[in-house]
Amino acid sequence: MSESAGAADPFAHLHDEDYLGPFGRGRVGHADLVITAGREAISLDGDWRFTLDLFDEGLRQKWYLDEPDPPESWTVPRDYDCGADRTIAVPSCWTCARPEWRYFEGGAWYTRFIDWAPAPDERVVLRIGAANYEARVFLNGAFVASHRGGFTPFCVELTGKLRSGANRLQVNVDSRRAADRVPMHHFDWFNDGGIFREVALFRLPQVFIRDAALRLAPDAGFGAIKAEIALSDAVDGTASVRIPELGVDAAVPIVGGSGSATLAARPELWSPQSPRLYDVEVGFGADRVRERIGFRDIRVAGMEILLNGAPIVLQGVCVHEDDVATGRATSEADIRRRLAHAKELGCNALRLAHYPHHDLVARLADEAGLMLWAEVPVYWAIDFANPATYADAENQLLELIRRDRNRASVVIWGVGNENADTDARYRFMSSLAEAARRADPSRLVAAACLINRATFRIEDRLAAHLDLIGLNEYFGWYEPEFTGLERLLANSAPDRPVVISEFGADALAGHRGGARTLFSEDAQAAFFRRQFEILSTVPWIKGAFPWVLYDFRSERRQTRFQKGFNRKGLIAEDKRTKKAAFEAIRALYSANAPPLGGGSR
Ligand code: GCU
Repeated sequence: MSESAGAADPFAHLHDEDYLGPFGRGRVGHADLVITAGREAISLDGDWRFTLDLFDEGLRQKWYLDEPDPPESWTVPRDYDCGADRTIAVPSCWTCARPEWRYFEGGAWYTRFIDWAPAPDERVVLRIGAANYEARVFLNGAFVASHRGGFTPFCVELTGKLRSGANRLQVNVDSRRAADRVPMHHFDWFNDGGIFREVALFRLPQVFIRDAALRLAPDAGFGAIKAEIALSDAVDGTASVRIPELGVDAAVPIVGGSGSATLAARPELWSPQSPRLYDVEVGFGADRVRERIGFRDIRVAGMEILLNGAPIVLQGVCVHEDDVATGRATSEADIRRRLAHAKELGCNALRLAHYPHHDLVARLADEAGLMLWAEVPVYWAIDFANPATYADAENQLLELIRRDRNRASVVIWGVGNENADTDARYRFMSSLAEAARRADPSRLVAAACLINRATFRIEDRLAAHLDLIGLNEYFGWYEPEFTGLERLLANSAPDRPVVISEFGADALAGHRGGARTLFSEDAQAAFFRRQFEILSTVPWIKGAFPWVLYDFRSERRQTRFQKGFNRKGLIAEDKRTKKAAFEAIRALYSANAPPLGGGSR
């Protein structure tokens, strides 16, 4: 019982089932994000005090009102003690912190103290890299803001709220799965809870650069760069854009807080073969942001995917951001290993399934020369008729775009995965696709679609809103006969490029047998050889993303071969043990094998 909540009826909270009401307001989203590239961060990573809260007691009883004073000073009993001895590392997943917390899905309280306040003329923004699923931020006992979405960053302005001396920052995180969330309560990966990406404060001037996006200007013969700049406030002025290696030192007029300019420049174009990046500095007043940006053009023309005007085929692989030890939390070393394995496989692309991965992935893919399909977790049976669910999905998509749209490696925004076609789904996902196109007309919009079982064709009315059709198919695994794939392809006549966005088979590393021995490495390798043999005969298949680079945790998988893992990985969950299928695909992607896409190598 919170002391400060000692109102007339100390038991009122036991009957208040609308306890979440006060926290529905103040929700932050994509419009509140602040570009932090090149800014000095005050890191808040490290040990935070931590308490699980399965019944949301802290929101009901207002635990956040309790000052962290010692028990001997308490005058009424309490049920929460932010001075408690338990701590947890930020970033991390509580589901990986203690064995007894592995399956905990519920609320939890993070507390840390900040002995710092900004100068009078400074603004301060808190950025949380990701917290799954809903987060509520409190400062010194006052609710500040909430955020919904488990894989995208969010920013909360704390200007004027930080006092000199100790400030108590608390974050309530709720990891519950729910039918109206994105993803909803049924999905094929492990539901990790926690603040699992970095947390930092940023000191900003009174008027600062909220967003700066640079890309190759469309239809300018690769000879111009478009710069779009948005400020924190609707003021007029002049921003600067400097790209020294291109001789760009330009002024961008700002009117009402935003402005854009097309700058003459002929950059060396970014590509997997030549991942050229440029140092870019954007300024306004005393504020500076610094990015390393690659300039390239990606588009679809007819049945071709064109990178910088030349046809390409996406030789990809799917990957979850999952780790047997750290869960959804990752590290630079983990990401570099992931990209190196993709390169070793012979990939020029990765599909980042099924949610926004860590910001560093696209930055390192920019350097490595790997193209990325990034996506939001509009996965399976979303509550498509629910306007609040749509707002959540669209916000996650726009947060992803705001976060990564300066990354040359990101070439595709994926708006969903394996969603049965209904009118509600069509309205929901076509709206998402158009939202992506409005926010960023420079990339392809795709979705991982299902086979149309009524016609047994690759066709989906959503395709009219997509540049690229992704198709998930498992002929040779869930549907044992490959003849189904041959019939499907012969029966289909898509009007835009198709990539096989998923195909795969389970195999337990070390389990050997014949081509028909289920869950054996040999059957998995034979599966891919047969799949590629068929797919490479179809000229409008312009890419393939085998499912999946590593075995990953999934409670839906409980045979003796799986034991809580989806075993379709080409590499086991140790991220070292390669299965026979890894070598099979490496050979299929090599110069010695027939290429996908009907071209020649
Ligand atoms: C589906 C789904 C994946 C899932 C895979 C599988 O295609 O998109 O998320 O893991 O099939 O069954 O292994």
